[in-house]
Amino acid sequence: MARKKIALVGAGQIGGTMALVLAQKQLGDVVLIDIPQTEGMPKGKALDIMEGRSVMGTSCNLTGSTDYADIAGADVVIVTAGVPRKPGMSRDDLLGINCGVIKTVGEAIKNTAPNAFVIVITNPLDAMVYNMQKVTGFPSNKVIGMAGVLDSSRLACFVAMELGVSAEDVKAVVMGGHGDTMVSLYDCVSVGGIPLSRLMSKEKFDELAKRTAGAGGEIVNLLVRGSAFYSPATSAIKMAEAYLLDKKSVLTCAVKLDGEYGVKGLYCGVPCVIGANGVEKIFDLSSTMTDSEKAAFANSVEACKKNADWVDANT
Ligand code: NAI
Ligand code: 2OP
Repeated sequence: MARKKIALVGAGQIGGTMALVLAQKQLGDVVLIDIPQTEGMPKGKALDIMEGRSVMGTSCNLTGSTDYADIAGADVVIVTAGVPRKPGMSRDDLLGINCGVIKTVGEAIKNTAPNAFVIVITNPLDAMVYNMQKVTGFPSNKVIGMAGVLDSSRLACFVAMELGVSAEDVKAVVMGGHGDTMVSLYDCVSVGGIPLSRLMSKEKFDELAKRTAGAGGEIVNLLVRGSAFYSPATSAIKMAEAYLLDKKSVLTCAVKLDGEYGVKGLYCGVPCVIGANGVEKIFDLSSTMTDSEKAAFANSVEACKKNADWVDANT
């Protein structure tokens, strides 16, 4: 079987970390792409990881480039191209600048890697993945956004820290847009199979959900230069792995809704199944959500719609 090829467009903090994780997991050969102004940076990162392969015990090849021709034939393209936020900035402040970047990158992907499964990470996430699907014209099952996996992992982390248990035993669902309006579902958290309601009050959970909604900003304030990158990188690789290995993984991803949750034509984070056909199924939880969850999700959809409308009006 031919090796898989994974192209990482944007070789910055998240891009570089993803390259390392992909090599460690031996998921395929990796191409790191960035703009010419970065000079040798993508090449340098690729070579640096290549030189560690003997120690890591991996045979994946990594290359760095500023030429999109090098992503030809990629099975997966993960996009972080753009700028991250600085302290005091919201994700939405990046809308104008990153929208233009996604247009350039999307056209290049369309021309050079037309069969790729595309995972967008660039913020503001829900609008950027909406724009990517619009620019590429790829079917919506092949263009998704990474945010819910990260937000759910953050909530699981805070629950695990509060209970003093292993984070790997905590599963959570945080859905909606990737912003202040994201929605954490109390009855969807399990701790080693035990519903969280048996272990933690709703009041305590609400505190952790609030911290989750602000978790990206918490890291931005600590780092000062740039935003979170380790956990965003591992979250995106989880999605790529589900596709490459046809895992049928249940992950919360930004997907294009087609009537689910009463929403049509808009990207928003919801639980779905990712396998070899990309988005294979969307779980519509709306009939079992509480009234307050429904209201919070509707509010989040409205925030996604506002940014998608901006994309439509400005592209
Ligand atoms: P970074 O600044 O370290 O890397 C971005 C890279 O994109 C830079 O190297 C830059 O030169 C490159 N770039 C810019 N324009 C390009 C173009 N036209 N073609 C190719 N490369 C281009 O930023 P970082 O920390 O890696 O974050 C990347 C993005 O991911 C940001 O927009 C950030 O807000 C977002 N993000 C999203 C998360 C999510 O959950 N969806 C979580 C964390 C960050
Ligand atoms: C994060 O959630 C800033 O979206 C980025 O870390």
